[in-house]
Amino acid sequence: MARVPVQFTLNGEEKAEFVESGVTLLKALRDKIGDMSVKGGCQQGTCGSCSVIIDGELRLSCLTLAESCNGAAIETTGGLAEPGALHPLQHAFADGFATQCGFCTPGMIMAAKALLDRNPSPSREDVVEAISGNICRCTGYEPIIQAILDASRANSLSVA
Ligand code: FES
Ligand code: FES
Repeated sequence: MARVPVQFTLNGEEKAEFVESGVTLLKALRDKIGDMSVKGGCQQGTCGSCSVIIDGELRLSCLTLAESCNGAAIETTGGLAEPGALHPLQHAFADGFATQCGFCTPGMIMAAKALLDRNPSPSREDVVEAISGNICRCTGYEPIIQAILDASRANSLSVA
């Protein structure tokens, strides 16, 4: 299969790789770049576990061609924590027991980040809508919803 060059930033770092034409961003991030924070579940667009943010928009990396990301800015959970400091969403998920097996967590957190980036003070309904494409088989969703609301309050306190 033909290989094509692709360049993008991943969590602010420049990346340049040759990928097979037609390969998904999910596969390229994990197999080529080594960002194992992105999880592949259904690989057909129904579970949300592979969610990433591309140019500010929440996207499913299993349905996105790597070669379509040329010049894009890609964010994953792998880039959220600062050295020695978790991101407020990561804190809230840990403190609120919003993760059990953890498989859905990276996708949930990226869906939550995409929401908080555009709406720092979401309602409960906004949160439910924002994670409606993300399946969790463990938590019953309530701890996740609460964690995202807690993170939004922590954010607003830190900028007050
Ligand atoms: S792995 Fe992409 S939506 Fe399930
Ligand atoms: S914590 Fe297990 S799928 Fe969500």
